[in-house]
Amino acid sequence: MHHERIAILDYGSQFTRLITRRLRDLGAFGLVYGPAATAQEIQGADLKGIILSGGPKSVLEAGAPDLDPAILELGVPILGVCYGQQLLARNAGGLIHRSAHREYGKALIQVQDLDSVLFQGLDPEQQVWMSHGDHVEQAPAGFTVTARTPGVPVAAMENRALRQFAIQFHPEVSHTTHGATILRNFLHVCAMKLDWNAGHFIEEKLKDIRAQVGDGRVVLGLSGGVDSSVAALLLHRAIGNQLTCVFVDTGVMRKDEKLQVQEAFAPFDMQIRWMDAGAEFLGGLAGVADPEAKRKIIGRIFIDVFDREAQQLQADFLAQGTLYPDVIESSGVGGAVLVKSHHNVGGLPAFMKLKLVEPLRELFKDEVRRVGLALGLPEDMVWRHPFPGPGLAVRIPGCVTEDRVRILQNADAIFIEELKSAGWYRNTSQCFAVLLPVMTVGIMGDERTYENMCALRAVTSEDFMTADWARLPHELLEKVAQRIVNEVKGINRVVFDITSKPPATIEYE
Ligand code: XMP
Repeated sequence: MHHERIAILDYGSQFTRLITRRLRDLGAFGLVYGPAATAQEIQGADLKGIILSGGPKSVLEAGAPDLDPAILELGVPILGVCYGQQLLARNAGGLIHRSAHREYGKALIQVQDLDSVLFQGLDPEQQVWMSHGDHVEQAPAGFTVTARTPGVPVAAMENRALRQFAIQFHPEVSHTTHGATILRNFLHVCAMKLDWNAGHFIEEKLKDIRAQVGDGRVVLGLSGGVDSSVAALLLHRAIGNQLTCVFVDTGVMRKDEKLQVQEAFAPFDMQIRWMDAGAEFLGGLAGVADPEAKRKIIGRIFIDVFDREAQQLQADFLAQGTLYPDVIESSGVGGAVLVKSHHNVGGLPAFMKLKLVEPLRELFKDEVRRVGLALGLPEDMVWRHPFPGPGLAVRIPGCVTEDRVRILQNADAIFIEELKSAGWYRNTSQCFAVLLPVMTVGIMGDERTYENMCALRAVTSEDFMTADWARLPHELLEKVAQRIVNEVKGINRVVFDITSKPPATIEYE
């Protein structure tokens, strides 16, 4: 039995995956097809509606992706977005104009018909997000214009009898204030049940994973972070002991990290190889102060340790907890630039020649958390702040030594413990201590001290591309500072970082 589905034909817009995400938020399952999908490929009793996505091409160009006309005969409602609108308009005999310049950004549309299917329940003026070159100048026969802007005569149109709807703007982008309502109105004419949830996602993925892996062996690098933890649980549920996880203790992880991960996974009876590679990492880092050099050393040793293990296991597949934002970042969509050498996506598999299994590739972080909860991952793990692969090495500017790591681990553990007991951990996105290799003078009892400084970093962030410093209460900061100086030998001064990103980064290296 298949779940009810909306077919999304992808004409290449960078926002297409956002459409599926918005549909999931509304409780609907959307499946993405290529631009050349035929009616035969997408039809089925479970098909409730079709969305034609935006795209970078112009329908006026020769060779631009087209629509199989039989799709228009499938009898389910169709929503065309941007390029999709122009396809629908052209197929029905509307007039399309090439605009003198691309319109990109926020725009106000005037709704012409408040009873129109898509705009039901909305005010006559709506803020939307436009990104297009061409526009529909004249709606085809049978269509009524339901919204316009001063520059776009057909910002939205509908043919109620055929249940075809089209909009020039992008309802999936958050700048379209009521995009979710517009999509819900469309789902309503599709008669979708709106009951899609994390449980359904899991069921679908279990099938996908089994189909992809067969009786192959899968290895997964378990870091204890949310993404790899959720991927591990999902794979384990799908293929049981065909999965082996490898946890590499780099020696530059948070205090008791391995213990916490062991406890969290104890109830699941999974095969996990615990690699204690701290000595190897610290050895490699000895005497190295350059930030990029430190990262490269850690990346290389990680791959060495992991690869040795994977070869022993004779794995056929490498599973990774890659999320949709990682996919975007690695492909450089949206002009993302490589600021630091990340080895999360793309690095390992080329080196190890394993086939990839990435069951979370379509999901966003908050969705992964929901899936994690549904799989029984403890709340503590689900809500963990992210932790960088190079770990505490990038939170100890300068040379990394065993002593420094231990000092930082203890200070960091106090900070996190106090954040949790004050209820601030869940209200922040990433918090940690940094060991500054700067000696300052202090006084304890009658004795003068000459020891390191510790910086506390606490940020809130949507996507970690930008971040603001968290306004932690003074009382909390005071308590953390007192405890660190009293309990952690090697630190005699604590400062709180009040820089946002940009201009500073979240990490110190
Ligand atoms: P920055 O310091 O660039 O950090 O503002 C943004 C986010 O990325 C994390 N980060 C990393 N994660 N490997 C990782 O897995 C890395 O090399 C790395 N560098 C930064 C950082 O913790 C923050 O969440």
